[in-house]
Amino acid sequence: MLVTRQKVLRRFWYATLPLSALADGPRAFTLLGEPLVLWQDGDGRPVAMRDRCCHRTAQLSRGFYNDGRLACGYHGWAYDRTGRCVSIPQQPDSAIPSGARVASYACEARYGYAWVALEDPLQPIPDVPEAAMPGFRRIEQFDERWDCGALRMMENSFDNAHFSYVHRNTFGQYDQPKPSKYELWPTDWGFESESIVPINNPPHALRITGDPNPVTTRHLRNRWFMPFSRTFHATYPSGIQHVIFNCATPIDDGSIQLVQLLFRNDTEADCPAQALIDWDRAIVDEDRAILEATDPDAAVDTRRRVEFHMDSDRPGLLMRRKLMELLEQHGETEAHR
Ligand code: FES
Ligand SMILES: [Fe+2]
Repeated sequence: MLVTRQKVLRRFWYATLPLSALADGPRAFTLLGEPLVLWQDGDGRPVAMRDRCCHRTAQLSRGFYNDGRLACGYHGWAYDRTGRCVSIPQQPDSAIPSGARVASYACEARYGYAWVALEDPLQPIPDVPEAAMPGFRRIEQFDERWDCGALRMMENSFDNAHFSYVHRNTFGQYDQPKPSKYELWPTDWGFESESIVPINNPPHALRITGDPNPVTTRHLRNRWFMPFSRTFHATYPSGIQHVIFNCATPIDDGSIQLVQLLFRNDTEADCPAQALIDWDRAIVDEDRAILEATDPDAAVDTRRRVEFHMDSDRPGLLMRRKLMELLEQHGETEAHR
């Protein structure tokens, strides 16, 4: 799927940059091929606007904050959060033309990130109950650009068959290639799933899993939120819950912003945040290496491109079917290639 050709994808919320990245000045971000400037107003609320000044087209992401507004670095015109120009320093006594504005987009703060929808969103921002549950801590893990398609990342995150190969140096069992079965329950805007996966538990993973044995299990109850977010909810026999929230935010057809947050029902004394970051860093780097080796154009309509599927690809195929329905419902289909 070439994401920039599917207009309906503009009608979802996407996690972009952490709010902390906007503290000192505006930042550029590309969403579905659309160049944006992200910034923070005087109340600390994130703002998303088109990254072009309406005076002489300078990128506003190269501007600066001035009294809670975004000022262009070229001649200092300043904008409010609606995109309206509210100050032209060279003409303080003249009225500002009503057309002096840039496009602004829906933008909200959630889970420590600025979320953006380019057009009227069809669904709310995905709900992650653990974010508000007492007893859970939040650890910001990763936000970085990957050169892979958003759907490739999503299908991989429900693929039990890659563990034995891609993750053979971390938790995967190379000698057990037959993947665990997935139970799947479609929802209106995604699906829920359940699977019990045996994994290797090397010495440096013991405090991650809370299990002293060399092999343990993950009871996975994962959810897909259409189009490109998911929760990975693993419960270990120790009772530790390791809940990852991921977004494969589509930058353009061939790249994503990987956003990864972790929620855990233990404490820093049980397992330091840095140890959890290091463990998951090794795993996501393994995924990244293989995903960047795939063709980013994952077909939604599987009749259009030949990819051979096996039984363990059922979650990915359900994902495609539901995306195909969405595209058809909104009068769009996948572009041919
Ligand atoms: S180009 Fe932005 S103020 Fe002139
Ligand atoms: Fe993986």
